[in-house]
Amino acid sequence: MTNAFSLFSSLKDRIARHEARVATVGLGYVGLPLALTISEAGFPTTGLDLNEARVAAINAGERVISYFPEDRIRNAVAGGRFSATHDRTSLAGVDVILICVPTPLSPRREPDLSYVLRAAESIAEWLQPGQLVVLESTVWPGATATVVKPILESRGLRAGEDFFLAFSPEREDPGNHKFDTRSIPKVVGADDARSRELIDLFYSQIVTKTVPVSSLATAEAVKLAENSFRTVNIALVNEMKVAMEAMGVDVWEVVQAAATKPFGYMPFFPGPGIGGDCIPVSPAYLSWRAKDVGSAMPIVDLARTNNENAPDMIAGRVAVELSKHSRVPVTGARVLILGIAYKKDVEDTRVSPALAILKRLEAMGATCDFHDPYFPVMPLTRDDPDLAGRRSVPLTEEVVAGYDAVLVATDHSLVDYALVARVARLLLDTRNVFAARGLLPPAGRFVKI
Ligand SMILES: NC(=O)c1ccc[n+]([C@@H]2O[C@H](COP(=O)([O-])OP(=O)(O)OC[C@H]3O[C@@H](n4cnc5c(N)ncnc54)[C@H](O)[C@@H]3O)[C@@H](O)[C@H]2O)c1
Repeated sequence: MTNAFSLFSSLKDRIARHEARVATVGLGYVGLPLALTISEAGFPTTGLDLNEARVAAINAGERVISYFPEDRIRNAVAGGRFSATHDRTSLAGVDVILICVPTPLSPRREPDLSYVLRAAESIAEWLQPGQLVVLESTVWPGATATVVKPILESRGLRAGEDFFLAFSPEREDPGNHKFDTRSIPKVVGADDARSRELIDLFYSQIVTKTVPVSSLATAEAVKLAENSFRTVNIALVNEMKVAMEAMGVDVWEVVQAAATKPFGYMPFFPGPGIGGDCIPVSPAYLSWRAKDVGSAMPIVDLARTNNENAPDMIAGRVAVELSKHSRVPVTGARVLILGIAYKKDVEDTRVSPALAILKRLEAMGATCDFHDPYFPVMPLTRDDPDLAGRRSVPLTEEVVAGYDAVLVATDHSLVDYALVARVARLLLDTRNVFAARGLLPPAGRFVKI
């Protein structure tokens, strides 16, 4: 029996018996739910994160992600199946390592794999024969094989023989109550048969369905295809919104009716732009890699540009509606923004279009405040450090009536829209929240934009 085969068989047995010890590197919006799901499936799991405050909060059982059930982290920690650490040496004692670190864009809007490189370097330092390493972070097709693998092999161990290497894209959808980490099918890919078998076996024990694909690059490309599809469709529906408004047609009604077609159509709704660390990023990775191999993605690029311009278009529209309905110039106007998170019912403002609108309106001379039930105080973010510390205003009739306009940027469920509809002087809705709730203020002070 070769050494490679015995390492493979031994890990396969431990996975099948749920005895394999697992570490996720990165305990963010992706790594933490994944680590908890794995520990809930019966595997002893450790989460490694550089952020010591987050590690301490998790070990104290705090609910660090608001849409988690109250006691999910507490139960996992108290049950002894899961713990967090910032000690990299813990990687030496595990069987499966999952990399879930950020993959943002650089200031030049190109792929920034620096977090992945650092994580791979830490793993290489402690890499043991027989371990399975899985990259989950979004990367361009080819990155695991040409960027991560050489780092892991730098101390002499060989992928597919001494250790195993796979890619499995994260499909986490924060705040989605219908699908969670366990019920979302997991795409798994590797360049050698042993790694492919191990990653498939591992995730078969954890999620309801695995989707094996033939290579690392295919699995990497799946994620970019999914997010580029969303990007293009969001740009398309926002374009349709403008054109249909000029035709006197409500695009939300159109999309809802079109969605009744049982095949060939998937609804996307208009909004103020895209946010988070996923949808705005993946298509840029795809387009960058296409250029790198001498190809191009002009449709994706146009959609990205349209989406990036969406917040500016909304800010411009706020100025127009203030002038048209209230004869108030945007310079000096007071605007209340409802919702600063990038999407409904999550506490995440990364790349949020609401913040881009706020900054644009202020650059035009308006004074902006915000109300967000998830943010009593504006957090410090990489893109908008200057906004940190601003406070959410209370949503009372008196407060709302004090603004020239109220702009719905994020459609959080925990907002009293009836109160807002009653007293707002001018109500500008980018999310169709009022019509969806049967709250339709008089046309003179209400516009869907
Ligand atoms: N958030 C989403 O909805 C989502 C969905 C699908 C895929 N993704 C992808 O998953 C990846 C992770 O995204 P996220 O939203 O979880 O990021 P995040 O910023 O929420 O979390 C990343 C965590 O990794 C930690 N970290 C960074 N470098 C580290 C290192 N070297 N060692 C240990 N910990 C380290 C950070 O402290 C942070 O807690 C990205 O590639 C992203 O594109 C995100």
